[in-house]
Amino acid sequence: MDRLHIRGGRPLIGEIAISGAKNAALPLMAASLLASAPLILENVPDLADIRTMTALLRELGMEVTREASGRLVLAGPPRQALAPYDIVRRMRASVLVLGPLLARLGEARVSLPGGCAIGTRPVDLHLKGLAELGAEIHLEGGYIIARSPKGLRGADIALPFPSVGATENILMAAVLAQGRTVIANAAREPEIGDLARCLNLMGAQIEGIGTDRLVIDGVSRLEGAIHRVIPDRIETGTYLCAAALTGGDLFLRGAEPGHLTALLKSLREAGVTIETVPGGLRVRREGRLVGVDVMTEPYPGFPTDMQAQFMTLMSVAEGAAMITETVFENRFMHVPELNRMGARINVHGASAIVRGVPELQGAPVMATDLRASVSLVLAGLAARGETIVNRVYHLDRGYERLEEKLAACGAAIERWREAA
Ligand code: EPZ
Repeated sequence: MDRLHIRGGRPLIGEIAISGAKNAALPLMAASLLASAPLILENVPDLADIRTMTALLRELGMEVTREASGRLVLAGPPRQALAPYDIVRRMRASVLVLGPLLARLGEARVSLPGGCAIGTRPVDLHLKGLAELGAEIHLEGGYIIARSPKGLRGADIALPFPSVGATENILMAAVLAQGRTVIANAAREPEIGDLARCLNLMGAQIEGIGTDRLVIDGVSRLEGAIHRVIPDRIETGTYLCAAALTGGDLFLRGAEPGHLTALLKSLREAGVTIETVPGGLRVRREGRLVGVDVMTEPYPGFPTDMQAQFMTLMSVAEGAAMITETVFENRFMHVPELNRMGARINVHGASAIVRGVPELQGAPVMATDLRASVSLVLAGLAARGETIVNRVYHLDRGYERLEEKLAACGAAIERWREAA
């Protein structure tokens, strides 16, 4: 298994180009199942999760071609409705093909995604919403079996929690349903806005984009489109923390500050200087960091996908910070590893108290999910001595050319490849 060797203590200085958002690209790729002509997605990052979704779509009979410069051409129609366990177990976002398959083919058989390192993560809200659109759904042998022999019908759906994936699955099914669907308490993440805008380009009729009430008037078919994926706000946030931790000065080309309001506010309170400049964001840190409390929440609140990276930042801030995780029940696996690097963090239920220390020390570490892993890379960039981050495959799922981007700004970071 590959690992990263990092020698910490060097300020990151220079420019990093922000990639397209993984969590926008995945549902957009699933939306290609709905189109009667090819869907062309630009700015799709080259990541393990994108390759997994490509494999799944090919399994369903789609033609998927990656062109130079990150363009993905997805052409249908889908020829079969089975999303097998072997692919779904590699990536939970595979469940996003459920709504589109059901709408397009009138049936879907999708392996139930299991729990994962950050929590049990059920899909009950996806299934309930699709059932309200008229789908007959049952579970059999670890699979979700969904049928809509008479087609889907618009419905009023109120989500008890604004789940990102459930909103996306219901939205993608509703665009081809008969009549009007209203999704109340819809998730408002920018990735959902990106999906809805692309669906509208394909001929869907969705209103209320960016709000918690999506109104969808079903249409009988969707065409192809050319759509550019939004910049990755979590990658941006990760590099903002990297610059702040190392006392660096970075220009993040292509970053979209409008998607980062809560994070920018907390970073500024912590003493990080961030300016919106033409073409992106400039971030630097000159003085000391101070502890700031944050609580993760659905968008537009502080993103759970930035909790681990922000915790690394707080681990070297002056004073204490309380970090509360409300979205996932088990998203503190980075804490013991950060503590092994000299951080002083105690977890009490859904909150972690971080008492800032003057500096972290390098150590061999590993993590069990993407954001926890990158928080250890950030810790390594700031720490004295060498940090070895094991299980790099987690990072490859969500960070495009991570070590290349960091090394170009002065980080001493190298990947050691190991034969499988
Ligand atoms: C999306 O996951 C993201 N993944 C996650 O990104 C992100 O952490 C999460 O949204 C929250 O922002 C993609 O976009 C591909 P949810 P998703 O449904 O859709 C519970 C990353 O690192 N829930 O909003 O799975 C669930 O268990 C990641 O890139 C139910 O109870 O998130 C969780 O506690 C990981 N029943 C909470 O809601 C359901 O049917 C939020 O989940 C659905 C969700």
